[in-house]
Amino acid sequence: MDERLIAVIGATGATGKHLPPRLAARGLNIRYLTRDAGAARATIGPDAEIVEASLDDRASLERAFADAHTLYLNSGHSPALEAQQTNAIEAAKAAGIERIVKLSGNIDSPAPIPEAHKALEGKIRASGLRHTFLRPNFFMSNLYYVAAGLTQSDSFTSAIPRDVKISMTDPRDVADLAAVVIAEDSGHDGEGYYQTGKALSLDEVASIFSDVLGRAIRYEQVDVETWEEMVTGRGLPPWLIEHQVKMIGFAANGAYAYETNATEDIVGHPKRTLEEFIRDHADAFAKTG
Ligand SMILES: NC(=O)c1ccc[n+]([C@@H]2O[C@H](COP(=O)([O-])OP(=O)(O)OC[C@H]3O[C@@H](n4cnc5c(N)ncnc54)[C@H](OP(=O)(O)O)[C@@H]3O)[C@@H](O)[C@H]2O)c1
Repeated sequence: MDERLIAVIGATGATGKHLPPRLAARGLNIRYLTRDAGAARATIGPDAEIVEASLDDRASLERAFADAHTLYLNSGHSPALEAQQTNAIEAAKAAGIERIVKLSGNIDSPAPIPEAHKALEGKIRASGLRHTFLRPNFFMSNLYYVAAGLTQSDSFTSAIPRDVKISMTDPRDVADLAAVVIAEDSGHDGEGYYQTGKALSLDEVASIFSDVLGRAIRYEQVDVETWEEMVTGRGLPPWLIEHQVKMIGFAANGAYAYETNATEDIVGHPKRTLEEFIRDHADAFAKTG
């Protein structure tokens, strides 16, 4: 067992839920932080050290960080993202943590969430702590939302132009990269790793859905106003709609079409394909109505 204690925040969500088996396989000494230890245990496993702490409560973080060497910092989209993760950075410094590995994102788009990540990266640099930033592109698991229509029909709808490409990243590749960087205590300081899958247009995504699910699936493009009405009706909060409208605009200009080989170069396996993701999660897209 590696004795360095690693505090992990965000091990129950889209990418984080894939981390515990990867970290356990490396024999690392992990303390998982969660807002709800009972619920988290089902995801994280029976033998893991799990403590309750919240990014909204700095004192709880300082207590949970006691004796930790490294912090893996990940939390979901929220208008409070910057304030919450600032609490974690300040608590890490106060508790004597040496190193932060932060799940960030593509920080180059001037929309609320990327701007929060960019500001947080700046705060971590300014803290003087050793650090590495993971910057995955659009998660394939966003398709649970974007392609939610497939459970009721043979089409899915968005305002992203049908011919622009987005290099969607499998959440399991994100967890693979995180596990390597967390485990290797040298060689990653000061780095910011942009990670992607293969770039695909939504027409190509529809074609892959068709092949894997064995149904003829279409992508329907609507204008942004129609899309806003649609997602407002589905209960998406206004701050998230504002964020996504901006991201759709950047996507339309090709901002998310780049591809990198971070998975190949750092993790050492090919980036997972969308075919694999849909095949492995086919139940989520099966027709229920
Ligand atoms: N979606 C994308 O396409 C995309 C692309 C690039 C980067 N990102 C970034 O990736 C991150 C999201 O990753 P994800 O999808 O794995 O997250 P997620 O599924 O939204 O999960 C959120 C995690 O954050 C933890 N969390 C939330 N609020 C917390 C709080 N107050 N205190 C402690 N923990 C808290 C939750 O833990 P508990 O519930 O157990 O407390 C959970 O494990 C975001 O920062 C996002 O900007 C997303």
